[in-house]
Amino acid sequence: MVISGKTRVFGVIGDPIEHTLSPVIYNAAFEALKLDCVFLAFKVKSDGIAGALDGIRVLNVHGLNVTMPHKEAVIKYLDEIDPMAKFLNAVNTIQNKNGKLLGFNTDGIGALNALKANRIDPKGKKVLLLGAGGAARAIAYTLASQAGELAILNRTLQPAEELSNLLKQAFKKKITAGTLSPTTIKAYLVGADVLINATSVGMKPNANQTSVQPEWLKHDLAVMDIVYNPIETTLAKDAKAARAKVISGVEMLIYQGAASFEIWTSCKAPVEVMRKAALNHLQKV
Ligand code: ATR
Repeated sequence: MVISGKTRVFGVIGDPIEHTLSPVIYNAAFEALKLDCVFLAFKVKSDGIAGALDGIRVLNVHGLNVTMPHKEAVIKYLDEIDPMAKFLNAVNTIQNKNGKLLGFNTDGIGALNALKANRIDPKGKKVLLLGAGGAARAIAYTLASQAGELAILNRTLQPAEELSNLLKQAFKKKITAGTLSPTTIKAYLVGADVLINATSVGMKPNANQTSVQPEWLKHDLAVMDIVYNPIETTLAKDAKAARAKVISGVEMLIYQGAASFEIWTSCKAPVEVMRKAALNHLQKV
C-alpha cells in the first residue's frame, strides 16, 4: 500500500476500538480493487464526538463506520440520515459527500445479504430472533419486511415488545414478542424456518454458552449467529451437528461491511477477499 497526497481516508470511531477488525477487512478490500484508499481506527470518547465529526469535514475523511457506544450520539451532527437509521435511531456508516455528512445503518442489510449469500431467502419464512439490542433491532427491521412471521425473544421483555409494536405498525405483519427463556425458545422453534441469535450469548470469554438446547435444532432450520468471536460458536456447532444450515457471525460482519464499502466507493465489494482477511485475523487472535 502506497500512501500519497491523493489517498482517500476512511475510518471507524468507537471506544474501545483496539480489537476492531474493520481496518483489516477494508484495507484488504481497497488493496484488492487497487483503490487509493486507507482505513484507520480512531478511539473517540463520548465527549469527543462533536470534535471528531468536525474533523471529518475539515480533513475530508471520506467515510466512517461508527461503533459502540456512539451509534446514536453521532446522529445530531449529521446533515441527513436514511429512513432505516432514523427508525433504529442508530447510525453505523457515515458518507462524507462533498462536506455533507450522510448517515446509514448497514447492520440489517448485512444480515439479510449474509442469509441470501448462503442461499437462505427469508421471504415468507417464519423467523425467530433472539435479542432486542442494537444489532437485533436492525435485523428485525430488515427482516420484518421480508419474513412471513417474526418472533422476537429478549432477556428483558420491554425492548422486545416496543420493537415488535413499532414493526407491527410499520409492516402489518405477524410479529410477536416474548421473554427469552428455555420454554419460549423451544415453543417458538416449532415450525420455525430461520433462527437468528443476535444476543451476545456465546461470545468469548463465554464461548461455551448458548440459549438453545441442541435437541431443539433440526436439519430443516437455518441458524445464523451474529457472534463472530469465536468463529464457530457453541450454537453454530450444535446446529452443524443437527445438520442445520449454519451462517456464522463472520458472514454478517462481512456483508454489513460490504454494504458500507459500496456506499462509500460505489464499487462492488470484494466479499471473498474481505471474508478471507477477517478469518485470517480471527484465527490469529
Ligand atoms: P449489540 O449492539 O451487539 O446488539 P446490545 O445492544 O448491548 O449489543 O444488545 C445485547 C443483546 O444481548 C440484548 O438483547 C441483551 O439482552 P437485554 O436487552 O436483556 O440486555 C442480550 N444479552 C446480553 N447478555 C445476555 C445474556 N446473558 N442472556 C440473554 N441475553 C443477553
